[in-house]
Amino acid sequence: MPSTYIMNTWTTTKIKASKGKHKLVCLTAYDYTTAQLIDAAGIQLILVGDSLAMTMLGYENTLPVTMEEMLHHTRAVSRGVKDALVVADMPFMSYQASPELAIENAGRFIKDAFAGAVKLEGGTVRVPAVKALVDNGIPVLGHIGLTPQSINETGGYKVQGKNSAEAGNLIDDALALEGAGAFAIILECTPPAIGAEVTKAVNIPTIGIGAGPDCDGQILVTHDLLGLYSGHTPKFAKKYCDLSSIMSQAIGEYKIETESNAFPSEEHCY
Ligand code: KIV
Repeated sequence: MPSTYIMNTWTTTKIKASKGKHKLVCLTAYDYTTAQLIDAAGIQLILVGDSLAMTMLGYENTLPVTMEEMLHHTRAVSRGVKDALVVADMPFMSYQASPELAIENAGRFIKDAFAGAVKLEGGTVRVPAVKALVDNGIPVLGHIGLTPQSINETGGYKVQGKNSAEAGNLIDDALALEGAGAFAIILECTPPAIGAEVTKAVNIPTIGIGAGPDCDGQILVTHDLLGLYSGHTPKFAKKYCDLSSIMSQAIGEYKIETESNAFPSEEHCY
């Protein structure tokens, strides 16, 4: 069993206190092995993102993923992580209907899957849920800007904050989340100037994904960073390697060697 109640090095308090001191480096993980690698690299916050709906489960978007699926992956990640803060992403409709529902479901991520915090999407509209969670000892990471769980309402994956009214709303949303007790905020897909403005407006760290270099930290979907996802990847997702090609090549070599009887050779036999 994992060290269930031994605190990881990176707590929400430490993450919050990092503002103005150092950049926060954050990534997603969905499984034990990848989480171990990411943790060992010194990444401070690991998000079990609902992006696993697409990258791990083959859904078209994040909307269908269930609490049970998110819990299953969060447990696996928690078992692999010693130092980073593990944040569980609350799936669509697990928190929107009422603060009571949010408490019930968020509590499962903390009690049954050993997450250190939860993330939920939305700004001002989410204040009652965020307050309720924080008041009940559940730290919250906010998420504003492009919020993929709202695609049916917003009409798709679009850059946010492109005019002054939208930019003003984003600042109001960030301030509202800070006021409600969120320890940090993910800011997705805004022009860099808006990333900088929101970051200046709040005293908690902003973690950007496609929100420019002036956020207090950055997060990427690990599958995008590694070149491991075959679906659409956004402009902001820098691919640091092409793991899909490396994997395809290795699998192809195995097939050829097995068919030609080159594998298993003597060194792989008892
Ligand atoms: O689900 C996810 O991967 C996210 C991103 C913002 C990192 O929410």
